[in-house]
Amino acid sequence: MPQTITAHFPSNIALVKYWGKKGNQLPCNASLSMTLSQAQTEVKLYCTEKKSQTAQIEYLFEGQTNQSFGQRVWRYAQQQPEFAGLLQNFDLHFESKNTFPHSAGIASSASAFAAIAATLLKASGKSESDSDFNQVASRLARLGSGSACRSFYGPFAQWGHLEGVKDSSDEFALPTTNIHDNFKQLRDTILIVEDQPKKISSSVGHGLMKNHPFAPSRFIQANNHCMEMISVLKNGDFEAFISITEREALSLHAMMMTSGDYYLLIKPDTVRIIEQVFQFREATGLPLCFTLDAGPNVHLLYPENIQDKVQPFLEHYLQQYGLKSVIDDYAGVGGEIY
Ligand code: PMV
Repeated sequence: MPQTITAHFPSNIALVKYWGKKGNQLPCNASLSMTLSQAQTEVKLYCTEKKSQTAQIEYLFEGQTNQSFGQRVWRYAQQQPEFAGLLQNFDLHFESKNTFPHSAGIASSASAFAAIAATLLKASGKSESDSDFNQVASRLARLGSGSACRSFYGPFAQWGHLEGVKDSSDEFALPTTNIHDNFKQLRDTILIVEDQPKKISSSVGHGLMKNHPFAPSRFIQANNHCMEMISVLKNGDFEAFISITEREALSLHAMMMTSGDYYLLIKPDTVRIIEQVFQFREATGLPLCFTLDAGPNVHLLYPENIQDKVQPFLEHYLQQYGLKSVIDDYAGVGGEIY
């Protein structure tokens, strides 16, 4: 029967970074992220009776056909046995839009593939009220874009097998549980230093970890950081949170700068802003810290209850950097589908 399914899924920002993959989109190390709230992708999937032998997939992004992304979704859908029945009977038409601008330092493939996997799974007959819906959808989303698997849970999610952590898996993400009140209402203010698409994609970056001289130590470091972060999120220790989060951001970029084909995604303003964050913390003792995704934009993380103190910092110090824009977001709970 023809049907329409709508999903809204948020993006997420990794605190402990996934960088390096193996096999079928499996991570070389565990990662842990904060789920965003405002930065979302909406996907509407229209399933109509198939007109030819091979299922057609059309993908409209913000009203325009996006052929290359449509082909990626087509290949992705064809490869998952879970969607075989759906593709046998239906042509698929996707309409999607983001609540955040392009190249804003927000991982749009994370929110998009979370929503795409969830709509395809529901269209394939699985009910979102099944107790394992999120786990199956998280695994399927991972096969589209690794970090997408973490967008199913909030305010924090972890992905990747960790020795001694029950149910942890490379296949799908899990919600990080027992979150201390200190971390329940974190804000993420994203300072857009550059709004152009980055020159080196994340998939190229992951690939460069294959022969990276520091890869083995990096994977150990990230797994250790994940274990530590799980405890820190429980015990409420801001100092440890800041230390892991900032070390992770710099380690990610250090990997890029030291790979065989080395490259640099941070910009002079990225470094200037980071220095201002250090100075602000030193002067005020307040728990403001930064993280970076695979790009030059700076994510400022802080608890909501110091927002009024961070605001003047943003206004007085940061305006001088001629930022392209500032996006305000905060920890969220995951997606919805109907
Ligand atoms: O999910 P991908 O393949 O776009 O890779 C994401 C990599 C980082 O955003 C840099 C880190 C992460 O864990 O999200």
